[in-house]
Amino acid sequence: MKINTKCVQSGYEPKNGDPRVVPVSMSTTFKYDSTQEVGDLFDLKSDGFFYTRLANPTTAAVERKIADLEGGTAAMLTSSGQAATTLSILNLASSGDKIISSSEIYGGTYNLFNVTLKRMGIDCIFVDPDDIDGLKKALSEKGVRAVFGETLANPALKVLDIEKWARAAHEHNVPLIVDNTFATPVLCRPFEFGADIVIHSTSKYMDGHAVSLGGVIVDGGKFDYKKGGYTQFTQPDESYHGVVYTESFPSAPFVTKARAQLMRDLGSMISPMNAFLLNIGLETLHLRMPRHCENALAVAEFLKSDKRVKEVAYPGLKSDKQYEKCKKYLNGNGSGVISFDVGSKEKAAKLMDSLKLAKIVVHVADARTGVLHPASSTHRQLSDKELESAGIKPGMIRLSCGIEDCEDIISDLRTALNNI
Ligand SMILES: Cc1ncc(COP(=O)(O)O)c(C=O)c1O
Repeated sequence: MKINTKCVQSGYEPKNGDPRVVPVSMSTTFKYDSTQEVGDLFDLKSDGFFYTRLANPTTAAVERKIADLEGGTAAMLTSSGQAATTLSILNLASSGDKIISSSEIYGGTYNLFNVTLKRMGIDCIFVDPDDIDGLKKALSEKGVRAVFGETLANPALKVLDIEKWARAAHEHNVPLIVDNTFATPVLCRPFEFGADIVIHSTSKYMDGHAVSLGGVIVDGGKFDYKKGGYTQFTQPDESYHGVVYTESFPSAPFVTKARAQLMRDLGSMISPMNAFLLNIGLETLHLRMPRHCENALAVAEFLKSDKRVKEVAYPGLKSDKQYEKCKKYLNGNGSGVISFDVGSKEKAAKLMDSLKLAKIVVHVADARTGVLHPASSTHRQLSDKELESAGIKPGMIRLSCGIEDCEDIISDLRTALNNI
């Protein structure tokens, strides 16, 4: 199936007389006729459901769809994007280990890596996404267990050179995790460029309507954990009846371990209702993404032509520094988010307060146009120096172009610009 069909159909095949739409299995538990059947499920010998913290029929259908969309072998939904990032790292690194991350990432992920994981004994080395030599130098340090970057960085909108990052990581037998939230598999499939694990905040374009929080981890199924000395995959897991993930689940050891061990213990599972809502969003992802791109390109061109706007970052603009990489990784489609700088915090606030159609929201990537001031919201915990290295200026506004009529979005912005 082509990706447009996968968005609509993948993951659920109703049998004769079954509901046509993926049903919401709003049940924490499942009934069996024999203790043997339950035992087999616990031993991962048979497929099925016994407790929704680990797996649920609605959730499983949506997981299959996302795995298919990304071209991965398996997926696991989580309660939020933050949970997906956390579990993807904890699946690889323990106290005393290091990870490497692009410095241009979502503020919440930055805090997770810079503060919380550090407290847990996992240190993060931040590297400028364009500094491949810096990446190689960081990889030569002892104890690096994961490399992390965002396809389209939030909010700096830099495009990760996935192929170069994957090659450098693989030279040291370390897997590359790519957060593909802003691109979605409709615009970019990081596995095709060498990524090993893909994660998402499904709360963004995948859901698309700003109704349900969620995250997902997708297994590329190709990374060689033996070569990298990742014994947690290649040796018996004593906490799970001695299972060896690479032997029993060779096509998806990453997601199987994340579920059997980390989801079991940390319990950050998505609600079946949220998975159901996410699936409805996914059914139109292929229709929404081109419209987001089209609107954002027209708005970026308008902003670029206005003298009151100091700088516009939109990877889909031919004049943008990121355009060549955008062409390679996203087919020239810049997705729906634009960053622009009006020169100062005060001007940014005045412009945002004057907007009518575009609402001030702590969110991006849904059907409605929204604006956010990163320096005073999502990234407010960062020092000026950290803000600079994350590519955030005081007067920078992040505009998430919705799927309304583009002329209305531009007219709203023009009126607000007249007010500053
Ligand atoms: C790129 C990116 N990754 C991860 C997250 C975290 O996702 P969530 O808010 O679903 O926890 C966000 C949230 O804005 C994000 O933009």
